[in-house]
Amino acid sequence: MSGTEKKSSNIVWHEAGVTRQAREKMNGHRGATLWFTGLSGSGKSTLAHAVEEQLHRTGIRTYVLDGDNVRHGLCGDLGFSDVARRENIRRIGEASRLFVDAGIVVLTAFISPFRSDRQQARRLLGDDFIEIYCDSSLEVCESRDTKGLYQRARAGEIKDFTGISSPYEVPEAAEIVVNTGGMSLQESAEQVIDYLQHHRIVVVS
Ligand SMILES: Nc1ncnc2c1ncn2[C@@H]1O[C@H](COP(=O)(O)OP(=O)(O)OP(=O)(O)O)[C@@H](O)[C@H]1O
Ligand SMILES: [Mg+2]
Repeated sequence: MSGTEKKSSNIVWHEAGVTRQAREKMNGHRGATLWFTGLSGSGKSTLAHAVEEQLHRTGIRTYVLDGDNVRHGLCGDLGFSDVARRENIRRIGEASRLFVDAGIVVLTAFISPFRSDRQQARRLLGDDFIEIYCDSSLEVCESRDTKGLYQRARAGEIKDFTGISSPYEVPEAAEIVVNTGGMSLQESAEQVIDYLQHHRIVVVS
């Protein structure tokens, strides 16, 4: 996988006349990336969409980048080896940066199991990166088994499955840790919105 190497040296950055600042002013809020991470079944998609709905209702421009959906298109060529997972997350980081530059609050819902990959996204996005760890134990996620994938992974039908045959590296300094294994969806969404309000990332009326 050679996703990071430049294919041409004849590429010059074109400065936009319409700046991020101008776009944010027009939108009435800043752009940011809410990066949900956690095991399969921990609640990333469910929580990201619940948070998005609340933000959207108050006029905030949002977009969810969700693992399965993105793997149909932007990352449709990638599998689940360590290298492919890294490239997947690298592309999501870059895509998020474009959304943030457009003044949008982008919510990403990817397992993103490797700390170094999340750190790379954090470096890329700086203060615009808010890591949200959906903290749910393997036992809880496996008992939910929303997609039936754990059962298949246990049966050896899926290799490199996070939590079973591939590691998940727990975030060490996530901005928000949500106990999605124990709290209700509503409580979890409130916790995220409260954080965003408190840190003035968005003002939800
Ligand atoms: N506090 C909570 N937050 C989010 N989801 C919750 C919560 N409590 C229970 N759930 C349930 O847990 C399940 C989480 O599934 P979801 O598809 O959102 O997980 P995911 O992390 O996106 O998994 P995957 O990586 O496979 O896409 C849903 O059935 C949801 O209703
Ligand atoms: Mg999901």
